[in-house]
Amino acid sequence: MDLFSSIDLEPARQRIDELTQLIDHYNYEYYMNDTSLVSDFEFDALLRELVDLERQYPELAHPNSPTKRVGGEVNKTFRQVTHRFPMLSLGNTYSIEEIEEFEARTHRLLEGIPFSYTCELKYDGVAIGLTYRHGQLVQAVTRGNGAVGDDITANARTIPTIPLRLRGDYPDDFEARGEVVYPFAAFEEMNRQREAEGETPFANPRNAASGSLKLQDSRECARRRLEFCMYFMMLPPGTAVSDASPLQTHYGRLQAAREMGFKVQPHIRVCANIDEIKAYIDYWDKERWNLPYGIDGIVIKVNQTPLWDSLGMTAKSPRWAIAYKFKAARVATPLESVSFQVGRTGVVTPVANMQPVWLGGTTVRRATLNNADFIEKMDIREGDTLFVEKGGEIIPKVVGVDLEQRRPDAQPVRYATLCPECGTPLVRTEGESGYYCPNQDGCPPQIVGRLEHFVSRKAMNIDTLGRERLDMLYRAGLVHDVADLYDLRREQLIGLGTEEGGTIQERGAENILAALAQSREVPFDRVLFALGIRYVGEVGAKKLARYFHTIDTLMDATVEELAQVEDIGEKTAVVVYDYFHTDSHRRLVERLRAAGLQMALAETRLSDTLAGKTFVVSGVFEHYSRDEIKQSVEAHGGKLSSSISGKTDYLLAGERMGPEKRRKAEKLGVAILDEKSYRKMIGEDAE
Ligand code: IVH
Repeated sequence: MDLFSSIDLEPARQRIDELTQLIDHYNYEYYMNDTSLVSDFEFDALLRELVDLERQYPELAHPNSPTKRVGGEVNKTFRQVTHRFPMLSLGNTYSIEEIEEFEARTHRLLEGIPFSYTCELKYDGVAIGLTYRHGQLVQAVTRGNGAVGDDITANARTIPTIPLRLRGDYPDDFEARGEVVYPFAAFEEMNRQREAEGETPFANPRNAASGSLKLQDSRECARRRLEFCMYFMMLPPGTAVSDASPLQTHYGRLQAAREMGFKVQPHIRVCANIDEIKAYIDYWDKERWNLPYGIDGIVIKVNQTPLWDSLGMTAKSPRWAIAYKFKAARVATPLESVSFQVGRTGVVTPVANMQPVWLGGTTVRRATLNNADFIEKMDIREGDTLFVEKGGEIIPKVVGVDLEQRRPDAQPVRYATLCPECGTPLVRTEGESGYYCPNQDGCPPQIVGRLEHFVSRKAMNIDTLGRERLDMLYRAGLVHDVADLYDLRREQLIGLGTEEGGTIQERGAENILAALAQSREVPFDRVLFALGIRYVGEVGAKKLARYFHTIDTLMDATVEELAQVEDIGEKTAVVVYDYFHTDSHRRLVERLRAAGLQMALAETRLSDTLAGKTFVVSGVFEHYSRDEIKQSVEAHGGKLSSSISGKTDYLLAGERMGPEKRRKAEKLGVAILDEKSYRKMIGEDAE
């Protein structure tokens, strides 16, 4: 066996190298230069070939292979890393006078030494630092508090504009700093998808970028279309840089970085004096709305890097740079009416309909007024003129009322008392900031919204049924609740539809029924999520399913028992309890059970090898994701605990486990097991 594999190794190594280089090159052209050199089909075939080869010969895979971009590593918590060089922030100002002062002070301090400035866009994203050694990405860390950040290397690898291996000439050891941004188009698309799937949309691209970098499953991060924009090359003190090197200036460093494979903004300019700086600021204050991502200002830096040391630091920030922040764009426009929208959970959201107004590159007509509390706090009256703002984000916000324009007899906005969709009197629960429609079973947007949530990708994943079709099924009187979906018959579906939208044909009907049949295999935790119980998201549903195992134990649980579950707070516990103590919901569960849906976690007991032993799992593993290794422990009869104590038998230690866990295990005499020994223990490693 060994003999054969060593003979085979060389061609495999060559092909792996070749594929790695080719895919890196195609990726570079695609993401940096917008050029597709091969078809998607060819690209996928090459990538698949590389994945297969790496699986066959793991020892030959490059640590920064392009296959790592699809993600796979799962992080429960992120390791804290101390920055080699603190990640400083910049002094910032909204005032041009302070920029003039900055410029005058810099001149004074540099006493006649010739120098220039760079002006560049200040991205509104999340700052990270990437360490490169010998041209390879070795670590990605968030800014954190500037001194210590989170190790997000696995997620960073999935961002196409982060080069994993550098091209051409590069310093042997340096840090690339920049901002991870969520471009508007990708952000909007993701939020639309989240809403369709019943998840809370992100408030703005920055939050979305930050949330994405902290995703536990890097595969999910790979799906987000994040971008890394480099703005700073940090060379360790003492790095030799010749006088003629482009690395002598900040501008030169960024141009060199572009050659290495980084995405660097094309908008950076070298400016000679304050007038040029002001012209740059003026230009971008207007132009910023036409960028594909958000910026919140301009950064001005002294271009000549050797001068940075002479200028030094103030308490928190360098004296050689400053940020000019844009004020949010603001307009005043009359409120024409307030309308009310009803969501899947019955929550009513007031919306301001305003006289159309041009703001930050788009015409604004509508903006959310959030809830009744918001309207009361802002004291919004009928006929008022509202101030609307647009910051670095895209969503316009109502920020206040122009009291000078208020008519003396203006009446407070009348809040809907009846549901605009079904006419049921609205209810406000104490402690809640808004109203909701209690007519769960008779209010159309609630019914269709629940159906839509049920079929969504992360729930039952019935992709042949979209909102339009569900709406149609509801209007035709065929489907009223999610269990009705499983009673649908072929002949009821055929011919359903509209002339414009097209009707369901035989093939379509069969596809719908096949997808429904297939959804019977969807695991219990997702069935639980699909029910759409208020406050029970994807993670909460997983935790509940793991804890109670079957729907029957869950339905019989007391509020106290429910609140024992990790991540399930008192409020959610009460809601879950109430849900399962409502007759109609119990009947629904029984009908879904009768339809063949999974109402218990699949029993996957493989052996009793680990019976009676308690494990704490930490770090990342080669053969398992974090969930998989936990499932494996349980499948072999072991118990899991989240923290090490005297009762722990084994600390199952993966790569990059935090040192604290190890110390604690050693102190308490808990056996530390690596992945290989664990696999031997459960008989999965034959050696
Ligand atoms: S330079 C020591 N350039 O703004 C200088 N920062 O407070 C390092 N930022 O934390 C920063 N775009 O996250 C620089 N073109 C740019 C930037 C930029 C965004 C962020 C960065 C930093 C904050 C400044």
